[in-house]
This record gives sequence, C-alpha cells and structure tokens, in this order.
Amino acid sequence: MLAENPNIPSSDPLTIPEKRILIDQILENNKNIQGATMVVLNELQNQLGYITEPMQKYVAQKLRVPVGAVHGVVTFYSFFTTKPRGRHTIKFCMGTACYVGGMPQLIEKAKQMLSTEIGNTTPDGGITLEVCRCVGACSQAPVIVVDDEVEGRVRPNKFPQILRKCQD
Ligand code: FES
Repeated sequence: MLAENPNIPSSDPLTIPEKRILIDQILENNKNIQGATMVVLNELQNQLGYITEPMQKYVAQKLRVPVGAVHGVVTFYSFFTTKPRGRHTIKFCMGTACYVGGMPQLIEKAKQMLSTEIGNTTPDGGITLEVCRCVGACSQAPVIVVDDEVEGRVRPNKFPQILRKCQD
C-alpha cells in the first residue's frame, strides 16, 4: 500500500499518524462529490499547509483519477505548494509587464538579501519566495504579493522596506 511505501520520507504527512487520519477524513468526506479532486486538494492545502508528491499519488489512488491530473492541478495553481510555506510568502509576478518592468533585478535583490532561492523558505521559517502569474495590476509593474497584499512599483531599493513588514 502506498502509505507504507519505504520510499516515502518519514517526514511526509502520510507517515505521521494524526496527519494520515486527517488526510483520510478529508478524502472520505469529499470523495463522492462533484469536483472532488479540487475540493480535496483545497482542504489538504488549508489544513496541512502543503501537498507532497506522495500525498498527490495517494489522493489520485483514493479518488481513482490519474496522478497526472492531481499533479497538474497542484502545479498550475500557485495557491498549492509541495513544501511547507514560511510564516510569510512573497510572490514575484512573472507576467510580461512585470518581467520587462524589472522583475529579474528585483528577484536577484530578494535572493541576495534573504540568501534563499525562489521556491524555498529562509532557514528560520520566516519567508517563502515564490513566483506567480499576472495578478492583474500590470500598470503598477513590477508587482509582488506579500502574503495577500499586492505591492506595486517595487524597485530593488524598496525591497528592504517590504521585508520590514515580514518581521514577525
Ligand atoms: S504582469 Fe505583473 S501584474 Fe500583470
């Protein structure tokens, strides 16, 4: 059975009994409803904070849908993540307007200041860096989203100011 698979890391929620119970409950409660895959993934993300690859396989197996379909949803929507996020998340818009408006330089500044890469979290668990698609505020490019707040016209020299908002 998938959850007993020795290839699943011991830190995976599937191998932690109380988390496994929660995952099974979410699946049981939603498996027969329309759009079950999306509903289950939403619940898992909200309640566990992330959806690992073994979890994606487990969901696919339980809902009898292709693993690729589950994986496709998780990777398409930036709401989902395969690793735990930090206390704060900074998303960098990679839409065209933001890209040509200086996003690569801003990302470089962020990586340098936080000593971490896009897709990763600072070692203290404080800040996760991610990229996202256009958030519809192109006239304010370059745009970042700090937690749920959109910040426009963020030049690299403004980034330290942004970080002060993520100090807790
Ligand atoms: S391209 Fe960044 S907000 Fe539209």
